[in-house]
Formats: sequence, C-alpha cells, structure tokens
Amino acid sequence: MSNELRYDGRVAIITGAGNGLGRAHALLFASRGAKVVVNDLGGSTRGEGQSSAAADKVVEEIRAAGGEAVANYDSVEDGAKIVQTAIDAFGRVDIVVNNAGILRDVSFHKMTDGDWDIIQRVHVNGAFKVTHAAWPKMRDQGYGRIIFTASAAGIYGNFGQANYSAAKLALVGFSNTLALEGRKYNVRANTIAPIAGSRMTETILPKELIDALRPEYVSPLVAWLSHESCEESGGLFEVGGGFFSKLRWERTQGHTVRLGRAITPELVKSKWSTIVDFAKATHPADVAAALQPVMDNVNAGPSKGGNELVDVDQALGY
Ligand code: NAI
Repeated sequence: MSNELRYDGRVAIITGAGNGLGRAHALLFASRGAKVVVNDLGGSTRGEGQSSAAADKVVEEIRAAGGEAVANYDSVEDGAKIVQTAIDAFGRVDIVVNNAGILRDVSFHKMTDGDWDIIQRVHVNGAFKVTHAAWPKMRDQGYGRIIFTASAAGIYGNFGQANYSAAKLALVGFSNTLALEGRKYNVRANTIAPIAGSRMTETILPKELIDALRPEYVSPLVAWLSHESCEESGGLFEVGGGFFSKLRWERTQGHTVRLGRAITPELVKSKWSTIVDFAKATHPADVAAALQPVMDNVNAGPSKGGNELVDVDQALGY
C-alpha cells in the first residue's frame, strides 16, 4: 500500500493562491486529490488593483495536470464569498490556508494610518473573515484544518515592517485560540512562518537566494499539517529552503516576591539578573501553566514578616 498522503474528497481553500507560496500550496493539494478553491484578488504586492488573471492561470495549471479547481477573485476581506465558492462548487470545505498577503514597508516614523490599516485588514481581518465563514462548517462536520501564515518579521521584528510584524504575530495568537476552541471538533489550527522566493521577496533578497528558496519547499509542511492523520494543533513552524522547525515560548524561572512585601522598582532592579536568566528556563504551553507560579504565590498567602524576610523567602524558593 502506498504511504502517499492523499486529500481525495477534501476541499481546500487557498487564499492568495495566484502567486508564490499560495500557488505552490494549491498545486500540491490538487496533485494529491484535493478539490481546490484558488482565491486571488490579483492586485500588486502593495495591495493595489485587481485582476482575475492570477487565479485563472493557477486553475488552468491544476486542470491541465488533471486536478480539480475553481477560481475565486474576491478579497479575503470578503471571506464569506470565498467559502461560498467552495460550497457552490464542491459542497464543503475541509482545509483553509490563510496565505494572501501584501506589504506596505516603511519606517515607523513615516508610517501613515493607511499603511497600518491596510496591512491589518488584509492579513488579520482577511484571515478572520475567511476562517469565520468556514468555522461552523468545520465544526458541524467534525473535521477541519486551518493554516495561518505568519512571518519571521512578526516573531523577531524587522526594520520597516511595524505594521506587517504586528499583523503577522496577531495571527499566531488567533491560531492558538482556534486550536483550543476547535479541539473537540477535530478542527486543528497551526501557523507557519515561511521564507520563500516570490514577487514579495524578490526586491529584498538576492537573485541566487530567490532561486534557491522555492515556494515548493514550504508547501509539504502545509500539506502535512492539513492532513487528516496529523494531530498537531496550536503549533508555530519556521519553514523554507529545506528547513523545518517548531517554535515555542521559553520563560526564565524568574523571581517571585512573596505578597505583602513592598514591590518596588528597586526590588525589580535588584533581581534583574535573575529575572532575565534563561539558565533554568521553562516552556509553559498554555495559560494555566503560564499562571502557575502566580497562583502558587497567591496560594502561599501574604508574607507576615515584612521586608526583612527576603533571605527566608529565598531559602523557600521565592
Ligand atoms: P505573493 O505576493 O507572491 O503572493 C501573495 C498573493 O496574495 C498574491 O497573488 C496577491 O494577489 C494575493 N493577495 C493579496 N491581497 C489579497 C486579498 N486581499 N485577497 C486575496 N488575495 C490577495 O507573496 P508570497 O511571498 O507568496 O506570500 C504569501 C504569504 O506568505 C503572505 O501572507 C506573506 O506575507 C507570507 N510570507 C512570505 C514570506 C516569503 O519569504 N515569501 C515570508 C514570510 C511571510
């Protein structure tokens, strides 16, 4: 028996699938039996203009290779229409890959309200609109796979991309909460932070790198995370150029001040080297784990002895 991962009978919406990464995702899903909605507004990298040509071309490519696909030319801001295209053409939606994106790079001191708003609208509101329209269908059918497309710029920051960084990391929080809310319905959500040569990166990266970082190297992770046998949810992955890895939060052990003490800026300063020391780092994976030291401190109750008990508290591990 072949161990090829297949998507027969599954319907996948790929937003921004007329170019770059979205196109590569769409071609891969279609080649593995999925019916694909190729959404693309067909505008510029800055989000100006629109055209049906980009989506049409990818649909033609998929059909020429024997696959099934339909085009949709709506903006992700009209996400319900994209989901409706899937329902009208194929009767269901199983996979949503939120991939559409634009850039308005400019240093923060020159950034206008317009530069800020359009980036949040396309990346954050767009992902919301598409996913929100698909969500009830996924819940009802007890199956769904959602991918969000973040960026290293969001995780680490990047000069000239305050708007884009904010939007991209917003998607990580969005995905993490959907992973929780979708769990009992077999709806899973994950986020990728890709790197790939595309029209979006061709003006920034050298040509050799653009040629080497093929979008096709990212799509296999998206396909795996979207497969019915994949149980991963709430993950964040860096992917591109043949590299695949998972990220998680790391937290220092920190310093806890027994309640009832004076908590002052001077105290924070005096404990700074401990607060920022990653030597004994922990990796809280959910809100309960994150709040554990706070709850332990609250449950321990206020210190009765006043500020002079610092050394005793330290002996107790505070
Ligand atoms: P691309 O520019 O080649 O493709 C993006 C596609 O999205 C375009 O075809 C565009 O027409 C479409 N699009 C834009 N606004 C839309 C809207 N409102 N509704 C529907 N479609 C719309 O760019 P690329 O590189 O393939 O980027 C895909 C995603 O990956 C984006 O979200 C981008 O921010 C993200 N990304 C890309 C990286 C890279 O190295 N290429 C790095 C990190 C993130």
